[in-house]
Amino acid sequence: MTKVIAITGKGGTGKTAVAALLIRSLSKKGKFLLAVDADADTNLPETLGCENVKTIGDAKEYLQAEITKPKPEHPDMNKEAVLKSKIYEIIEEMPGYDLLVMGRPEGSGCYCYVNNLLRGIMDKLIANYDIVIIDAEAGLEHFSRKIIRDIDELIVVTDASRRGFRTAERIHELVDELDSNIGRIHVIANKVTDTNREKLVKLAEDLKLSMIGMIPLDPKIEEMDIKGIPLFQISDDSVAAVEIENIIKKLGL
Ligand SMILES: Nc1ncnc2c1ncn2[C@@H]1O[C@H](COP(=O)(O)OP(=O)(O)OP(=O)(O)O)[C@@H](O)[C@H]1O
Ligand SMILES: [Mg+2]
Repeated sequence: MTKVIAITGKGGTGKTAVAALLIRSLSKKGKFLLAVDADADTNLPETLGCENVKTIGDAKEYLQAEITKPKPEHPDMNKEAVLKSKIYEIIEEMPGYDLLVMGRPEGSGCYCYVNNLLRGIMDKLIANYDIVIIDAEAGLEHFSRKIIRDIDELIVVTDASRRGFRTAERIHELVDELDSNIGRIHVIANKVTDTNREKLVKLAEDLKLSMIGMIPLDPKIEEMDIKGIPLFQISDDSVAAVEIENIIKKLGL
């Protein structure tokens, strides 16, 4: 059975960093892995060290343009087959994992038809993998549009800010309203320091959020940021990579 893990949280808290660290570690363990960048402001590929990736957004726009033309050039085309072949073309095969980027938000108009096709294609695609890691955005757009239906583990990343926790709380509420199937929800506190550690534990307790890990503010990540080195290349002994291993164990992966 495929395990689908989605990562969400307030802007800038470290969603992409957590996704990249999970992908890095799980790919080393030999899992058959799909990484999905579901944030319109795509930056997972860069964090993983991939360049020039094509996006599902482009494939959707192509099909949407075809079906909304007053006189389609290919009226008899099998739309599902066209979208499927475009999506399989877009999948980037990286060493240890595959990468799929959702890309730009939809234009105006109704994308229900295209999204329905996409949902069926995504269901079949996801079933091919052991683990799917999704770098999502706080609004959980793709889940509310049910493009990705089932999530086993929803991880909400927060920093020490009250707003970060508020977002985590709101996501909890949002999940109840979503028509998606969401298994468990966890919180990861990120950029933890000796000064904010206790405050973070207390905030999580007050809000009744289950904390699955506390990733320290990592000087190696800060150094890599400054030098522009992809986080995927971080060493196993960095404090963030060590805590990610603990989180992977707790998730039973
Ligand atoms: N544990 C950490 N220690 C040090 N720096 C970190 C840590 N986690 C993330 N960062 C840095 O914080 C910045 C924001 O992280 P990241 O881009 O992962 O956040 P995000 O939640 O994905 O942001 P966005 O909402 O823009 O997508 C990045 O420069 C990242 O390298
Ligand atoms: Mg991000």
